[in-house]
Amino acid sequence: MMRAVARIDAAAVKRNCARLKAELRPGAELCAVVKADGYGHGADVCADAALSGGATRLAVATGTEAAQVGRRFPQVPLLTMGALTPEDLDAALAAGSEVAVWRDGFRALAGARGRAQGRPVRVHVKYDSGMGRLGNPDPREVLALARACDAEPNLELAGVWTHFATADEPASDFFETQLQRFETVAAAVKAEFPDVRAHAANSAAVFRDRRAHFDMARCGVAVYGLDPFQGDPGERGLAPAMSLHSYVADVKRFAPGDSAGYGQTWRAAGETWVAVLPLGYGDGVRRGLSNNAEILIGGRPVSGQGFDRGIVFQDFAQLFPWRTALENVAFGLEMKGVPRAERERVALEQLRLVKLEKFAAAYPHHLSGGMQQRVAIARALAYNPGVLLMDEPFAALDALTRDEMQRLLAEVWRETRKTVVYVTHNVAEAVYLADRVVVMSAHPGRIRAVVSIRLPRPRDPLSVEFLQYQKELLGHLTRQEDA
Ligand SMILES: Cc1ncc(COP(=O)(O)O)c(C=O)c1O
Repeated sequence: MMRAVARIDAAAVKRNCARLKAELRPGAELCAVVKADGYGHGADVCADAALSGGATRLAVATGTEAAQVGRRFPQVPLLTMGALTPEDLDAALAAGSEVAVWRDGFRALAGARGRAQGRPVRVHVKYDSGMGRLGNPDPREVLALARACDAEPNLELAGVWTHFATADEPASDFFETQLQRFETVAAAVKAEFPDVRAHAANSAAVFRDRRAHFDMARCGVAVYGLDPFQGDPGERGLAPAMSLHSYVADVKRFAPGDSAGYGQTWRAAGETWVAVLPLGYGDGVRRGLSNNAEILIGGRPVSGQGFDRGIVFQDFAQLFPWRTALENVAFGLEMKGVPRAERERVALEQLRLVKLEKFAAAYPHHLSGGMQQRVAIARALAYNPGVLLMDEPFAALDALTRDEMQRLLAEVWRETRKTVVYVTHNVAEAVYLADRVVVMSAHPGRIRAVVSIRLPRPRDPLSVEFLQYQKELLGHLTRQEDA
């Protein structure tokens, strides 16, 4: 068996292109950027899918890439965007590609090649509106170059274009600066050469501002289903085309506080079972994905740190002894990368919920067993899990503290309405807390009965109805023993 396999979903590429096309202003073409072997996804398969999803043009960076893509899609207009050596230029032209021009010397070279091949070379004059890389930064020279290309019979002026440096940074207004600069240059070129295609937008610019769409958008990351703003692609109707597949090579038990991986960036909040997948740098898994990737096992997502569920155990030792109550409660948020001020605010709110805000600075050994359990509840609730799992959380407490904790938990539930799965051996506790009690048999643990408790809250443990429910549950348990 292979250790790791990358699967490419061509249908996702097709859908992503349809999504991008729908986003573009009417009349604007979609050019799928398939450079660097389709961003590592496979240029041929992705170009094919992109074209069936609505892309009408393709773009690459080098002559070698142009040769590969041009051979496979000879009918599709192709732009080689990068700087080209004379050899690269030959390769690009042999593939029928259009090329970028921003200096007079290269214009002359392209003209000579056009003459030699007996067919004009289609060129896109590149304006450097602020990226500071390829392109001519002088608007007058760009216009002069466009005129020179048009005047040269062995060249055909096909485009005027630029590239954004900060389209994917919503907080940066440099995007606006570049856009305005390009608007001026594109308008000047198109005033003289109306058929020339103006293009500027990458994936981020397509979603950011319709004014950036011009006659064509050159999209890469979004074609492959990544969110150009590094958010959730699903929110923009995009789906990642690549998924990595591996297998569970080991499963290990971690004690609370045990760490995994470089930099110890993940720590077990409580006893945790950790699955190890044999994937690493060699398989393209970057360190930046630490604690930041979605893993599916059997088709179901396993969130990195189980943030979908909060867990409270019976054992008081589940808190980190070296952290104060506040720091314990803030732990999950810290692992999630929530900034300090925000996580301390949330942690204090949760401590207030369990009536411990005055003990925020106390260490676990300063707190009674009941208080430690309250900190554990606050900690489990702080990162807002979908469900709270509580495994006999109050079993080790004395009877009075236990009563108090049950009342507190009922109050917390009233406020948060969190779904709680609570394991107990205490029938009265089950009737006091639950909406539904699942009665289990021991060895093997099977469901014997499911009883809905329809008593108003707060519940009175001395009421007749309360006692009747206890009797009913005990009945199920006893019947089970007789069986
Ligand atoms: C000149 C140019 N245009 C467009 C793109 C596509 O950008 P994105 O992948 O952000 O959509 C690239 C990619 O790097 C590029 O170099």
